[in-house]
Amino acid sequence: MPFVHKHLLGIQHLTASEILTILDTAESLFEISTREVKKVPILRGKTIINLFFEPSTRTRSSFELAAKRLSADIINFNQQTSSVVKGESLKDTVLNLEAMNPDALIIRHFAAGTPHYISTFCRSHIINAGDGAHEHPTQALLDAFTIRQAKKNFKDLKVVIIGDILHSRVARSNIFCLNKLGAKIILSGPPPLLPLEFKKFGVDIDFNLDRAIKGADVIMMLRIQLERQQKSSFPSLREYRNLYSLTKKRFRRAKKNAIIMHPGPINRGVEISAEMADSAKSVILKQVENGIAVRMAILYILLGGKERDSID
Ligand code: CP
Repeated sequence: MPFVHKHLLGIQHLTASEILTILDTAESLFEISTREVKKVPILRGKTIINLFFEPSTRTRSSFELAAKRLSADIINFNQQTSSVVKGESLKDTVLNLEAMNPDALIIRHFAAGTPHYISTFCRSHIINAGDGAHEHPTQALLDAFTIRQAKKNFKDLKVVIIGDILHSRVARSNIFCLNKLGAKIILSGPPPLLPLEFKKFGVDIDFNLDRAIKGADVIMMLRIQLERQQKSSFPSLREYRNLYSLTKKRFRRAKKNAIIMHPGPINRGVEISAEMADSAKSVILKQVENGIAVRMAILYILLGGKERDSID
């Protein structure tokens, strides 16, 4: 089924078939990044603005590289050096950038719902690059791409997502995405960071990580998002490490060919040991590499889909 949406605001309202269209498109674009000349003219003449109101290493850089590899022009809006510091509102900031006739705005914001709000008054394509604790759709898509690369399909895969689920937009988008693709999802983490109401999303919850991880095909570790917590949700980092850190000993309970994922940034020695982060089972840097192909696919589908035959 073709992708018919004007924006990419989240995964929740996409169909499995639309998700697979994005993954298949990413697969066909992946090879461009391995060429000597990493550029095709598909989006020549298109203008994209990266509008990040929160820090980012992976998402912002890979959207910029994705745009450049498709020959689009992209600029990075830097909140700290913008007129936001003089008090300009979000709406005025966006309206002024829109007056420069971009084709797409890629938005990361600390407030959930911001990309959706902007889509109500903008004519550009809006892409959600992470909104508060709500969704991070391109992260879930690149995670699904990475899982398919390693496991071939999703049906009945046991995926365990571990850590600060409550504050994680990555967890929410992955739950929506992997559920639609047929994987079985188990959430694990300390009770204050894992509300039982997540069960309504069709997942299992097990606060005991040693039990949850047993027989897992995919282990997805999450960072504790201290910046989104009013007060600490657990007694100490030492206790957190003892109960929820991915160590070699714990990993042995998963399937032999299980893969380890993490959206980054990782806290070595907290949610994951350095040994496991750097192990042959880790696909953490593969996720980053795949992020470019997936973001190229999103830009291509939203901005250049009609020229579908001209990838070469
Ligand atoms: N995974 C992720 O969103 O990383 P950044 O915050 O560095 O973009």
